[in-house]
Amino acid sequence: MIPQEQSSTAVAAGPASTAVRLLEVRSVSVMFGTFMALDDVSVNLDGGRALGLVGPNGSGKTTLINVVTGLVAAKRGKVLFDREDVSGRAPHRLAHLGINRTFQIPKPFTGLTVRQNVEVAARYGKGRRSVEEILALTRLDRVGSRSSEELTAAEQKKLDLARALSTAPRLLCVDELGAGLSVSELDEVALMLRDVSERWGIALLVVEHLMGFLERVTEDVVVLNAGQVIFEGSLVDALRQPNVIQVFLGG
Ligand SMILES: Nc1ncnc2c1ncn2[C@@H]1O[C@H](COP(=O)(O)OP(=O)(O)OP(=O)(O)O)[C@@H](O)[C@H]1O
Ligand SMILES: [Mg+2]
Repeated sequence: MIPQEQSSTAVAAGPASTAVRLLEVRSVSVMFGTFMALDDVSVNLDGGRALGLVGPNGSGKTTLINVVTGLVAAKRGKVLFDREDVSGRAPHRLAHLGINRTFQIPKPFTGLTVRQNVEVAARYGKGRRSVEEILALTRLDRVGSRSSEELTAAEQKKLDLARALSTAPRLLCVDELGAGLSVSELDEVALMLRDVSERWGIALLVVEHLMGFLERVTEDVVVLNAGQVIFEGSLVDALRQPNVIQVFLGG
């Protein structure tokens, strides 16, 4: 447990001997006009590890993912991927390097089938895995020939995950994949994320409001409030911190 007062750099790090720093968000600030959405945020993530990113609505979670994946430019600070400064690079270039994401609201290509959606996305990466393998992992193999508009909300989320996975990311940012899913769907998706992290070695940055879901994917969290990191450490310790409880419950 490292309270924010002592350190401003959040870390999900493996054992010192094997750890390879994959992502380093260094003192990033983001402005929308005069509004500071991220204020001097630093986050580190080692290859193959998973890190939860939690915080109340509007605390800057999606903005941080947008910076890491190239949709939003930081006013200050840097993003290093595999020790290379990738700040300000376009999303498609970052996808080629191995950074991809899912969206809070999935955006499938309409008019294409599920399989075609994954095939199109696969062209953006250096995917070693077949489209069939991705569809099987995300349990979409049985609806592969369906049009993406016909999918349930849960299947659309899984399709978003499948499309991101098909580009063979080394870092996958996941934005509220659990929102709106049933209990059994949450179980299924949490298992998928564990699988890609543990078996495929993909590092995960997981934005989530559902703590029960998050604890099945990772032990390590960063808590954001009003654009600042207010806690970094284990999820169990986070939920014992008075300042963390206060921002979630108010007062
Ligand atoms: N493009 C934008 N222009 C102006 N303000 C923005 C923009 N994107 C985000 N914001 C503002 O920045 C703040 C952080 O937004 P962000 O979407 O990162 O929050 P979040 O933590 O993901 O919230 P939620 O849990 O509701 O998804 C919010 O006040 C939001 O209104
Ligand atoms: Mg968000």
